[in-house]
Amino acid sequence: MNPALSGTEICVFDAYGTLYDFNSAVARHRAAIGPKADALSEMWRTKQVQYTWLRNSMGDYAPFWQVTGEALDNCLATVGITDKSVREKLMASYLALDPFPEVPAMLDRLKKAGKRLAILSNGNPEMLEPMVKASGLADRFEAVISIDAAKVFKVDPRTYDLVEKRTGIKRDKVCFLSSNCWDAHGAAYYGFKTLWVNRGGVPEDNLPGKVVGHLKDLSALPDQLGVA
Ligand code: LAC
Repeated sequence: MNPALSGTEICVFDAYGTLYDFNSAVARHRAAIGPKADALSEMWRTKQVQYTWLRNSMGDYAPFWQVTGEALDNCLATVGITDKSVREKLMASYLALDPFPEVPAMLDRLKKAGKRLAILSNGNPEMLEPMVKASGLADRFEAVISIDAAKVFKVDPRTYDLVEKRTGIKRDKVCFLSSNCWDAHGAAYYGFKTLWVNRGGVPEDNLPGKVVGHLKDLSALPDQLGVA
């Protein structure tokens, strides 16, 4: 048990990269993409996230689905893929990304112990809902919260405000989980008790906000919460 998490009333998960593997989109179409598949997947994610930060700075919000497509178009041009069917396949895969292998059992353990569970994601509802449904995990969450309601992306504090607005739970009773270090720091700075899920085993970013712990994947979360 992590003592910092003793007052937890709800676990709130980031979606892309934390519960769901964005690399599974490219992995499914590796044959059509060819040898640049891994580079494309990494570049796509990097651009997608950069575009959210830049749009926040410009004050020009657009749904994450649009931003994801715009990032992909840039990356496809960079690697020289002009086949339109590749774009279509990759975008369609984004609506049915695979959850990470440990996720279903971990959620079941928490749910059985009576923990409240939710998602807070940059994804707009039209892309989040089909993905959560396709994974068979929809009934584990009491809320799938999209930042679209705030019309601004993470790490703007108005996105994290949506958790209390939807669940009524104050920030210091929220255990927030993200594999995106920048999101983990944003959430910790906001006041959530935050665990960084360091799936890549990379050094921590030097940003404001102090996380209360590190996990290598989500399988250790029930132990952190003292769930049997
Ligand atoms: C999300 C991105 C940041 O789901 O992974 O919000």
